Amino acid sequence: MRIGILNGPNLNLLGTREPDLYGRTTLAEIEHRLEELGRELGVEVRCAQHNGEGELIDVLHRWRGAVDGVVVNAGAYTHTSLALRDALSAIATPFVEVHLTNVYAREPERRHSMLASAALGSICGLGADGYEYAVRGLVTRLRQSAPSV
Ligand code: DQA
Repeated sequence: MRIGILNGPNLNLLGTREPDLYGRTTLAEIEHRLEELGRELGVEVRCAQHNGEGELIDVLHRWRGAVDGVVVNAGAYTHTSLALRDALSAIATPFVEVHLTNVYAREPERRHSMLASAALGSICGLGADGYEYAVRGLVTRLRQSAPSV
């Protein structure tokens, strides 16, 4: 089984970006932990981060048929990008949406997700650990639907 971890704009600055809000864990540390988790679970984890909407969509197109599930933190594009939701729907790959912060407890413009209606599930407000919970949940669900993968 192969799982893609996709991070959007400004998440490359994790660790130093508004640490009181987003924590002090860097994206490299998160990705490293998820690769370790992948080995533990017997799944291949591949990671990508881009600041541009088009680049994120290009990654999803490349992952079509190449990954079995996606964990995505689309950053601010979560709240604006119909194109990203279309790309996630187009590749027909189950995905879990992650946010480090509880977006529902923040400014009104962060309380709507363009992606949520197409997601298998969402995890928010649990910091960097949320990625790990998302991978574990996604792998469990994928194994239930296709035990041989
Ligand atoms: C975020 C929440 C978004 O509203 C914000 O634009 C981000 C990070 C989160 O992980 O909490 O860039 O996705």
